[in-house]
Amino acid sequence: MLAETKLDTMSAIYQRRAVRSYTAKKIGKETIEKLLDAAVHAPTAVHREPWAFVIIQNKDRLRQYSDLAKSLLLGQQEATSFFRAAEPKALAMLSDPNFNIFYDAGTLVVIGCKSRGPFVEADCWLAAENLMLAATAEGLGTCCIGFAVNILNAPEVKRELGIPEGGAAVAPIIIGVPRGPIPSGTRKAPEILSWVA
Ligand SMILES: Cc1cc2nc3c(=O)[nH]c(=O)nc-3n(C[C@H](O)[C@H](O)[C@H](O)COP(=O)(O)O)c2cc1C
Repeated sequence: MLAETKLDTMSAIYQRRAVRSYTAKKIGKETIEKLLDAAVHAPTAVHREPWAFVIIQNKDRLRQYSDLAKSLLLGQQEATSFFRAAEPKALAMLSDPNFNIFYDAGTLVVIGCKSRGPFVEADCWLAAENLMLAATAEGLGTCCIGFAVNILNAPEVKRELGIPEGGAAVAPIIIGVPRGPIPSGTRKAPEILSWVA
């Protein structure tokens, strides 16, 4: 259990933002363990708790995975067509040799599973949101890194990280101390397709 809650739930939901610039301050083991504990309190289909975690706090390793992820993504036609249509800036970023997909964060938590199942991805992403809200409550910043999913599921990288062949890396999340104030975000109003009363 989190020892103390620094923000109420609604404040954490509204204050969480994708943070892409961090100080060099290292996140301690105890804090990571607190966040993982919050993560595993997410709901899971048929109470399977299928998740397993990888924590990387080695900047050289993260840089290496970032470089591999960029070349992998740029070589995949499906990925490049998606970014060309949805977010052309992403292609320019991936082509920039200085761009680190982990934004030089000192910690990456990968939420994954040891074996797949119909709701396992949903379970992992629910855990991811719990982790990000708990991090917000602790004054930390986070960002999901979808760019990393492909490389983290490459067979040799899975082996390196102890992810079994039948398992997968699902939700990569960087964590760190935000370098500056975090601007608030905006959202479209929820689109209600029907409301049957
Ligand atoms: C599944 C998923 C993958 C994402 N992948 C990336 C990514 O690779 N790089 C990145 O900078 N942001 C990534 N994001 C963060 C989104 O860009 C961000 O959540 C969105 O712009 C909304 O901003 P907010 O989180 O500050 O509200 C990802 C978010 C999700 C949910």
